[in-house]
Amino acid sequence: MRESVFQTQIGADVAEAARWLEAGQCVAIPTETVYGLAANALDTAAVARIYEVKNRPTFDPLIVHVLDAASAETYVEDFPAMLRRLAENFWPGPLTVLLPKKAVIPDLVTSGLPRVALRAPAHPVARQLLARLSFPLAAPSANPFGYISPTTAQHVYDQLQGQIPYILDGGPCTVGVESTIVGVEDGALVVYRLGGVAVEAIEEAAKTSVTVRQHSTSNPTAPGMLTTHYAPRKRLLLWPSANDWPVPAAGQNLGLLLFKRRQTLPPHTRCVVLSNEGDLSEAAQRLFSALRTLDNANDVEVIWAEQCPDIGLGRAINDRLRRAAATTE
Ligand code: TXA
Ligand code: MG
Repeated sequence: MRESVFQTQIGADVAEAARWLEAGQCVAIPTETVYGLAANALDTAAVARIYEVKNRPTFDPLIVHVLDAASAETYVEDFPAMLRRLAENFWPGPLTVLLPKKAVIPDLVTSGLPRVALRAPAHPVARQLLARLSFPLAAPSANPFGYISPTTAQHVYDQLQGQIPYILDGGPCTVGVESTIVGVEDGALVVYRLGGVAVEAIEEAAKTSVTVRQHSTSNPTAPGMLTTHYAPRKRLLLWPSANDWPVPAAGQNLGLLLFKRRQTLPPHTRCVVLSNEGDLSEAAQRLFSALRTLDNANDVEVIWAEQCPDIGLGRAINDRLRRAAATTE
């Protein structure tokens, strides 16, 4: 545990959050996807503090949050029509676009890359905060690097208590998985991270097919795509379907993460169902909370997770589960 620097407060006071941010400090903020660890994106020292608090390597760049596309314009050299159309369709919302940055965005924000990741969040509290600030907010998910992303103010408190002065509480996140990250390469749309906007929805809005390119550990331009990520401390094993689960070792205490309710289950000590009826949005919303519950349960040694159908938000859920499992393989 790191030394405490602050008496961390949780509250719903947007003005208080703004005061800390204006003073160059980091504040946890709600967004519709996950809670973010925010700081003034134009202030290198404040941005450096994000990396420090998160224990995040500086080769992993940050997303910059803006109120809308007009504000995004201020920070970029160009906003290609293809991405503009997506922003029109999905902002405010869980979509991040990569655009060539202006010099006003510090290199530390983009880890020296030429493009900056921009997103206009939909959460009303985040929007109130952005509306009263004179600067955009750099904000990665508010978890220690590599661990499960937080979807409540309490999740943030459990891990960053003492490290930041204030957690702005906006209730549980409604989307539950991070934003989808898109950019343009050679005139074509590329999705670098599966997330809260389904690939199918992007293809429909863009009226073109997109390439999904992730899972690179060696290429720093592949965003958020370290193979190991979103990981619980316990061992997590993946199964395509609960019907295919093997028999557990004798005496092994299992935690089951089920996509939907099942009639018959292998012997287990604890089971969390993401969505009784198998609704992908509901499953995404509950995913990180469910992983935390099983990770923190004293009677669970190993987590078995069932994969979702690989469509819509199910692709983002399966992506997170694969990365959570990758740590222990
Ligand atoms: O939904 C979200 O996107 C949340 C909320 C807080 O907005 N944020 C989030 O941030 O998930 P983070 O840092 O956990 O993941 C963002 C990923 C990073 O892993 C990074 O690699 C990638 O986006 N990224 C950011 N800026 C980039 C850039 N300029 N070029 C390439 N990748 C970038
Ligand atoms: Mg993250």
